[in-house]
Amino acid sequence: MRVVITGGGGFLGDQLCTALLERGSLLGPDSQEQSIEKIILLDAHFARLVAYSPSPILVERVVGSIESQEAIDEALGTTSDLAIFHLASMVSGECEDRFDDAISVNLNGGLRLLESARRIGPSCRFVFASSIACFGGPALKDPCDDWTKLTPQTTYGMTKAILELLISDYARKGFVDGRAARLPTVIIRPGKPNAAASSWASGMFREPLGGIDCMLPVHFQQRHPMTGYRAVIDSLIAIHNLPAERIGRDRSIGLAAMSVTPAMAQAALEAATSGLESVSLPGRLGKIVLAPDARIQGIVDQWPVSIDGSRALSLGLPGPPSLVEIIRGFVKDFMS
Ligand SMILES: NC(=O)c1ccc[n+]([C@@H]2O[C@H](COP(=O)([O-])OP(=O)(O)OC[C@H]3O[C@@H](n4cnc5c(N)ncnc54)[C@H](O)[C@@H]3O)[C@@H](O)[C@H]2O)c1
Repeated sequence: MRVVITGGGGFLGDQLCTALLERGSLLGPDSQEQSIEKIILLDAHFARLVAYSPSPILVERVVGSIESQEAIDEALGTTSDLAIFHLASMVSGECEDRFDDAISVNLNGGLRLLESARRIGPSCRFVFASSIACFGGPALKDPCDDWTKLTPQTTYGMTKAILELLISDYARKGFVDGRAARLPTVIIRPGKPNAAASSWASGMFREPLGGIDCMLPVHFQQRHPMTGYRAVIDSLIAIHNLPAERIGRDRSIGLAAMSVTPAMAQAALEAATSGLESVSLPGRLGKIVLAPDARIQGIVDQWPVSIDGSRALSLGLPGPPSLVEIIRGFVKDFMS
Protein backbone atom coordinates (compact mmCIF):
# COMPACT_ATOMS: atom_id res chain seq x y z
CA MET A 1 0.00 0.00 0.00
CA ARG A 2 0.91 3.67 -0.33
CA VAL A 3 0.63 6.28 2.38
CA VAL A 4 0.17 10.00 1.74
CA ILE A 5 1.03 12.40 4.57
CA THR A 6 -0.06 15.99 3.92
CA GLY A 7 1.97 18.42 5.99
CA GLY A 8 4.70 15.78 5.68
CA GLY A 9 7.38 18.45 6.02
CA GLY A 10 6.09 19.55 9.44
CA PHE A 11 6.83 18.40 12.99
CA LEU A 12 4.26 15.61 13.28
CA GLY A 13 4.42 14.67 9.57
CA ASP A 14 8.12 14.01 9.92
CA GLN A 15 7.63 11.98 13.12
CA LEU A 16 4.80 9.99 11.51
CA CYS A 17 6.92 9.20 8.46
CA THR A 18 9.76 7.96 10.73
CA ALA A 19 7.35 5.79 12.73
CA LEU A 20 5.78 4.27 9.58
CA LEU A 21 9.23 3.50 8.14
CA GLU A 22 10.05 1.64 11.35
CA ARG A 23 6.68 -0.13 11.46
CA GLY A 24 6.65 -1.04 7.75
CA SER A 25 2.93 -1.83 7.55
CA LEU A 26 -0.60 -0.66 8.36
CA LEU A 27 -3.84 -2.58 8.66
CA GLY A 28 -5.76 -2.74 5.41
CA PRO A 29 -9.56 -2.60 5.10
CA ASP A 30 -9.60 -6.41 5.53
CA SER A 31 -7.89 -5.98 8.96
CA GLN A 32 -4.75 -7.69 7.66
CA GLU A 33 -1.32 -6.04 7.94
CA GLN A 34 -0.29 -4.65 4.56
CA SER A 35 3.29 -3.70 3.76
CA ILE A 36 3.89 -0.07 2.94
CA GLU A 37 5.67 0.34 -0.39
CA LYS A 38 5.86 4.08 -0.57
CA ILE A 39 5.26 7.14 1.62
CA ILE A 40 4.44 10.37 -0.20
CA LEU A 41 4.97 13.57 1.76
CA LEU A 42 2.92 16.49 0.41
CA ASP A 43 3.81 19.90 1.78
CA ALA A 44 3.81 23.49 0.58
CA HIS A 45 7.26 23.93 2.02
CA PHE A 46 9.92 21.54 3.31
CA ALA A 47 11.93 23.63 5.76
CA ARG A 48 14.55 20.88 6.00
CA LEU A 49 15.12 17.67 4.10
CA VAL A 50 15.16 14.94 6.74
CA ALA A 51 17.50 12.04 5.93
CA TYR A 52 15.39 9.02 6.93
CA SER A 53 17.11 5.77 7.93
CA PRO A 54 17.67 3.37 5.02
CA SER A 55 14.49 1.36 4.34
CA PRO A 56 12.96 -0.66 1.51
CA ILE A 57 10.06 1.82 1.67
CA LEU A 58 10.42 4.69 -0.79
CA VAL A 59 9.87 8.21 0.52
CA GLU A 60 8.84 10.79 -2.06
CA ARG A 61 8.31 14.50 -1.51
CA VAL A 62 5.71 16.47 -3.44
CA VAL A 63 6.00 20.24 -3.05
CA GLY A 64 2.61 21.87 -3.46
CA SER A 65 -0.41 23.26 -1.68
CA ILE A 66 -3.47 21.26 -0.67
CA GLU A 67 -5.36 24.12 -2.35
CA SER A 68 -4.07 22.77 -5.69
CA GLN A 69 -5.84 19.83 -7.35
CA GLU A 70 -2.72 19.22 -9.41
CA ALA A 71 -0.56 18.81 -6.29
CA ILE A 72 -3.14 16.51 -4.66
CA ASP A 73 -3.43 14.38 -7.82
CA GLU A 74 0.34 14.08 -8.02
CA ALA A 75 0.53 12.93 -4.38
CA LEU A 76 -2.44 10.54 -4.47
CA GLY A 77 -1.56 9.00 -7.86
CA THR A 78 -3.91 6.45 -9.37
CA THR A 79 -3.67 3.52 -6.96
CA SER A 80 -6.71 2.56 -4.89
CA ASP A 81 -4.58 0.97 -2.21
CA LEU A 82 -3.95 4.18 -0.31
CA ALA A 83 -4.08 5.57 3.22
CA ILE A 84 -4.13 9.34 3.79
CA PHE A 85 -2.97 11.18 6.90
CA HIS A 86 -4.10 14.79 6.57
CA LEU A 87 -1.82 16.94 8.73
CA ALA A 88 -1.29 20.02 6.52
CA SER A 89 -2.66 23.12 8.19
CA MET A 90 -2.06 26.76 8.91
CA VAL A 91 -1.45 27.20 12.65
CA SER A 92 -3.80 29.05 15.02
CA GLY A 93 -2.02 32.42 15.10
CA GLU A 94 -1.76 32.51 11.29
CA CYS A 95 -5.45 31.66 10.92
CA GLU A 96 -6.43 34.53 13.27
CA ASP A 97 -4.37 36.99 11.21
CA ARG A 98 -5.26 35.67 7.71
CA PHE A 99 -8.89 34.59 7.65
CA ASP A 100 -9.16 34.21 3.85
CA ASP A 101 -6.04 32.08 3.64
CA ALA A 102 -7.28 29.93 6.54
CA ILE A 103 -10.52 29.24 4.66
CA SER A 104 -8.63 28.49 1.46
CA VAL A 105 -6.05 26.14 3.06
CA ASN A 106 -7.66 24.54 6.10
CA LEU A 107 -11.24 24.37 4.89
CA ASN A 108 -11.29 24.35 1.06
CA GLY A 109 -7.97 22.47 0.86
CA GLY A 110 -9.23 19.86 3.32
CA LEU A 111 -12.49 19.46 1.42
CA ARG A 112 -10.59 19.16 -1.87
CA LEU A 113 -8.49 16.39 -0.36
CA LEU A 114 -11.57 14.60 0.99
CA GLU A 115 -13.24 14.80 -2.43
CA SER A 116 -10.09 13.38 -4.02
CA ALA A 117 -10.10 10.54 -1.45
CA ARG A 118 -13.78 9.92 -2.31
CA ARG A 119 -12.76 9.14 -5.88
CA ILE A 120 -10.50 6.38 -4.50
CA GLY A 121 -13.47 4.73 -2.82
CA PRO A 122 -15.08 3.90 0.51
CA SER A 123 -12.23 1.74 1.75
CA CYS A 124 -9.75 4.63 1.65
CA ARG A 125 -8.77 5.41 5.25
CA PHE A 126 -8.40 9.12 5.86
CA VAL A 127 -6.97 10.22 9.21
CA PHE A 128 -7.26 13.92 10.03
CA ALA A 129 -5.29 15.82 12.69
CA SER A 130 -7.91 17.98 14.39
CA SER A 131 -7.45 20.05 17.53
CA ILE A 132 -8.96 20.81 20.93
CA ALA A 133 -9.32 24.36 19.53
CA CYS A 134 -12.66 22.94 18.27
CA PHE A 135 -13.82 23.53 21.85
CA GLY A 136 -14.29 26.96 23.30
CA GLY A 137 -16.46 29.74 24.63
CA PRO A 138 -19.87 29.02 26.09
CA ALA A 139 -19.72 25.20 25.91
CA LEU A 140 -16.37 24.84 27.69
CA LYS A 141 -16.37 22.30 30.50
CA ASP A 142 -13.65 21.21 32.89
CA PRO A 143 -12.89 18.67 31.51
CA CYS A 144 -14.12 18.71 27.88
CA ASP A 145 -14.80 15.28 26.42
CA ASP A 146 -16.06 13.71 23.19
CA TRP A 147 -19.60 14.78 24.05
CA THR A 148 -18.84 18.47 24.59
CA LYS A 149 -20.46 20.74 21.99
CA LEU A 150 -17.99 22.25 19.50
CA THR A 151 -18.19 26.04 19.81
CA PRO A 152 -14.71 27.12 18.61
CA GLN A 153 -13.63 30.69 19.32
CA THR A 154 -10.85 30.91 16.73
CA THR A 155 -10.84 30.66 12.94
CA TYR A 156 -8.36 27.76 13.25
CA GLY A 157 -10.72 25.85 15.56
CA MET A 158 -13.69 26.59 13.32
CA THR A 159 -11.93 25.08 10.27
CA LYS A 160 -10.97 21.99 12.29
CA ALA A 161 -14.53 21.54 13.61
CA ILE A 162 -16.05 21.79 10.11
CA LEU A 163 -13.61 19.22 8.72
CA GLU A 164 -14.44 16.87 11.62
CA LEU A 165 -18.15 17.11 10.71
CA LEU A 166 -17.40 16.59 7.01
CA ILE A 167 -15.35 13.49 7.82
CA SER A 168 -18.15 11.95 9.89
CA ASP A 169 -20.62 12.64 7.09
CA TYR A 170 -18.33 11.29 4.36
CA ALA A 171 -18.01 8.13 6.46
CA ARG A 172 -21.79 7.92 7.06
CA LYS A 173 -22.43 8.27 3.33
CA GLY A 174 -19.86 5.55 2.59
CA PHE A 175 -17.67 7.94 0.55
CA VAL A 176 -14.45 7.62 2.57
CA ASP A 177 -13.46 5.72 5.72
CA GLY A 178 -12.56 8.93 7.58
CA ARG A 179 -11.39 9.36 11.16
CA ALA A 180 -10.28 12.45 13.09
CA ALA A 181 -7.87 12.61 16.03
CA ARG A 182 -8.61 15.67 18.18
CA LEU A 183 -5.13 16.58 19.40
CA PRO A 184 -4.26 18.47 22.57
CA THR A 185 -1.14 20.63 22.37
CA VAL A 186 1.76 18.40 21.45
CA ILE A 187 5.02 18.82 23.36
CA ILE A 188 7.94 19.23 22.91
CA ARG A 189 8.17 20.71 19.44
CA PRO A 190 11.84 21.11 18.36
CA GLY A 191 13.27 24.17 16.65
CA LYS A 192 12.07 27.71 17.02
CA PRO A 193 8.80 29.13 18.39
CA ASN A 194 6.05 29.18 15.73
CA ALA A 195 2.91 31.29 15.16
CA ALA A 196 0.64 28.93 17.11
CA ALA A 197 -1.01 30.61 20.11
CA SER A 198 0.09 27.51 22.06
CA SER A 199 3.76 27.86 21.03
CA TRP A 200 4.73 28.68 24.66
CA ALA A 201 3.67 25.14 25.71
CA SER A 202 6.71 23.64 23.97
CA GLY A 203 8.85 26.73 24.52
CA MET A 204 8.65 26.48 28.31
CA PHE A 205 10.43 23.10 28.07
CA ARG A 206 12.59 23.55 24.98
CA GLU A 207 14.12 26.95 25.76
CA PRO A 208 15.19 26.11 29.36
CA LEU A 209 16.66 22.80 28.11
CA GLY A 210 18.72 24.84 25.64
CA GLY A 211 19.92 27.12 28.45
CA ILE A 212 17.68 29.98 27.29
CA ASP A 213 14.99 31.77 29.32
CA CYS A 214 11.44 31.25 28.03
CA MET A 215 9.23 34.35 27.86
CA LEU A 216 5.83 33.07 29.05
CA PRO A 217 2.85 34.95 27.54
CA VAL A 218 0.25 33.37 29.88
CA HIS A 219 0.03 33.30 33.65
CA PHE A 220 2.05 30.86 35.72
CA GLN A 221 -0.94 28.81 36.90
CA GLN A 222 -2.47 28.53 33.38
CA ARG A 223 -3.73 24.95 32.90
CA HIS A 224 -3.45 23.63 29.38
CA PRO A 225 -4.06 20.11 27.92
CA MET A 226 -0.87 18.56 26.53
CA THR A 227 0.57 15.24 25.50
CA GLY A 228 3.86 13.99 24.07
CA TYR A 229 4.59 13.62 20.36
CA ARG A 230 5.32 9.89 20.59
CA ALA A 231 1.85 9.25 22.07
CA VAL A 232 0.29 11.34 19.30
CA ILE A 233 2.06 9.45 16.52
CA ASP A 234 1.11 6.09 18.09
CA SER A 235 -2.48 7.36 18.34
CA LEU A 236 -2.65 8.47 14.69
CA ILE A 237 -1.50 5.00 13.62
CA ALA A 238 -3.87 3.27 16.06
CA ILE A 239 -6.80 5.38 14.84
CA HIS A 240 -5.95 4.43 11.27
CA ASN A 241 -5.93 0.77 12.25
CA LEU A 242 -9.17 0.73 14.27
CA PRO A 243 -12.00 -1.24 12.66
CA ALA A 244 -14.70 1.21 11.53
CA GLU A 245 -17.37 -0.50 13.61
CA ARG A 246 -15.43 0.13 16.82
CA ILE A 247 -15.37 3.87 16.16
CA GLY A 248 -19.04 4.12 15.29
CA ARG A 249 -20.81 7.15 13.86
CA ASP A 250 -18.85 9.84 15.67
CA ARG A 251 -15.58 9.71 13.78
CA SER A 252 -13.75 12.27 15.96
CA ILE A 253 -11.73 10.89 18.85
CA GLY A 254 -10.30 13.23 21.47
CA LEU A 255 -6.86 12.06 22.58
CA ALA A 256 -6.20 11.84 26.31
CA ALA A 257 -4.17 14.72 27.74
CA MET A 258 -2.53 16.00 30.91
CA SER A 259 -3.56 19.38 32.27
CA VAL A 260 -0.17 21.09 32.63
CA THR A 261 0.77 24.45 34.17
CA PRO A 262 4.06 26.33 33.69
CA ALA A 263 4.73 25.69 37.39
CA MET A 264 4.44 21.93 36.73
CA ALA A 265 6.72 22.28 33.68
CA GLN A 266 9.43 23.95 35.75
CA ALA A 267 9.30 21.23 38.42
CA ALA A 268 9.40 18.46 35.77
CA LEU A 269 12.38 20.09 34.02
CA GLU A 270 14.34 20.06 37.26
CA ALA A 271 13.37 16.44 38.02
CA ALA A 272 14.07 15.19 34.47
CA THR A 273 17.49 16.79 34.12
CA SER A 274 18.91 16.14 37.57
CA GLY A 275 21.48 13.41 37.13
CA LEU A 276 20.76 13.19 33.37
CA GLU A 277 23.99 12.98 31.45
CA SER A 278 23.72 14.43 27.98
CA VAL A 279 26.64 16.14 26.30
CA SER A 280 24.27 18.52 24.52
CA LEU A 281 22.56 19.84 27.66
CA PRO A 282 24.00 23.21 28.71
CA GLY A 283 25.32 23.73 32.22
CA ARG A 284 22.23 25.55 33.44
CA LEU A 285 18.52 25.30 32.80
CA GLY A 286 16.96 28.47 31.44
CA LYS A 287 14.11 30.01 33.44
CA ILE A 288 10.43 30.44 32.67
CA VAL A 289 9.94 34.22 32.85
CA LEU A 290 6.51 35.87 32.91
CA ALA A 291 5.99 38.15 29.89
CA PRO A 292 2.18 38.60 29.71
CA ASP A 293 0.70 38.93 26.20
CA ALA A 294 -2.97 39.95 26.27
CA ARG A 295 -3.63 38.63 22.73
CA ILE A 296 -2.26 35.14 23.47
CA GLN A 297 -3.87 35.03 26.92
CA GLY A 298 -7.18 36.05 25.32
CA ILE A 299 -7.02 33.11 22.87
CA VAL A 300 -5.89 30.63 25.53
CA ASP A 301 -8.73 31.76 27.84
CA GLN A 302 -11.18 30.46 25.23
CA TRP A 303 -9.58 27.00 25.08
CA PRO A 304 -10.23 24.01 27.32
CA VAL A 305 -8.03 23.60 30.39
CA SER A 306 -8.46 19.82 30.63
CA ILE A 307 -9.60 16.90 28.50
CA ASP A 308 -11.28 13.64 29.48
CA GLY A 309 -9.86 11.15 26.99
CA SER A 310 -11.67 8.11 28.35
CA ARG A 311 -13.25 7.28 24.96
CA ALA A 312 -9.78 7.23 23.35
CA LEU A 313 -8.42 5.06 26.15
CA SER A 314 -11.36 2.65 25.86
CA LEU A 315 -10.51 2.29 22.16
CA GLY A 316 -6.98 1.23 23.12
CA LEU A 317 -5.21 4.51 22.32
CA PRO A 318 -2.24 5.43 24.51
CA GLY A 319 -2.56 7.94 27.33
CA PRO A 320 -0.05 10.74 27.89
CA PRO A 321 3.32 9.77 29.30
CA SER A 322 4.67 11.68 32.33
CA LEU A 323 6.30 15.08 31.78
CA VAL A 324 9.64 13.62 32.88
CA GLU A 325 9.38 10.88 30.22
CA ILE A 326 8.46 13.46 27.56
CA ILE A 327 11.41 15.69 28.49
CA ARG A 328 13.87 12.77 28.50
CA GLY A 329 12.47 11.51 25.17
CA PHE A 330 12.97 14.98 23.66
CA VAL A 331 16.57 15.17 24.91
CA LYS A 332 17.27 11.74 23.38
CA ASP A 333 15.47 12.38 20.06
CA PHE A 334 16.44 16.00 19.40
CA MET A 335 19.39 17.02 21.59
CA SER A 336 21.71 14.02 21.41
N1 LIG B 1 1.48 20.32 17.19
C1 LIG B 1 0.40 20.54 17.93
O1 LIG B 1 0.48 20.92 19.11
C2 LIG B 1 -0.96 20.31 17.36
C3 LIG B 1 -2.08 20.38 18.19
C4 LIG B 1 -3.35 20.19 17.64
C5 LIG B 1 -3.48 19.91 16.30
N2 LIG B 1 -2.37 19.85 15.51
C6 LIG B 1 -2.54 19.59 14.08
O2 LIG B 1 -1.66 18.56 13.69
C7 LIG B 1 -1.21 18.80 12.35
C8 LIG B 1 0.31 18.74 12.31
O3 LIG B 1 0.82 19.69 13.25
P1 LIG B 1 2.35 20.06 13.30
O4 LIG B 1 2.66 20.43 14.69
O5 LIG B 1 3.17 19.06 12.59
O6 LIG B 1 2.33 21.40 12.45
P2 LIG B 1 3.45 21.97 11.47
O7 LIG B 1 3.14 23.42 11.32
O8 LIG B 1 4.80 21.59 11.94
O9 LIG B 1 3.15 21.19 10.14
C9 LIG B 1 2.11 21.54 9.29
C10 LIG B 1 2.65 21.49 7.88
O10 LIG B 1 1.58 21.88 7.00
C11 LIG B 1 2.20 22.55 5.94
N3 LIG B 1 1.24 23.36 5.21
C12 LIG B 1 0.70 24.55 5.60
N4 LIG B 1 -0.10 25.01 4.63
C13 LIG B 1 -0.07 24.10 3.63
C14 LIG B 1 -0.68 24.00 2.37
N5 LIG B 1 -1.47 24.99 1.91
N6 LIG B 1 -0.45 22.93 1.59
C15 LIG B 1 0.39 21.94 2.02
N7 LIG B 1 1.02 21.98 3.20
C16 LIG B 1 0.78 23.05 3.99
C17 LIG B 1 3.30 23.39 6.57
O11 LIG B 1 4.28 23.77 5.61
C18 LIG B 1 3.82 22.46 7.64
O12 LIG B 1 4.95 21.75 7.20
C19 LIG B 1 -1.79 20.13 11.94
O13 LIG B 1 -2.97 19.89 11.21
C20 LIG B 1 -2.14 20.80 13.26
O14 LIG B 1 -3.22 21.71 13.12
C21 LIG B 1 -1.13 20.03 16.01
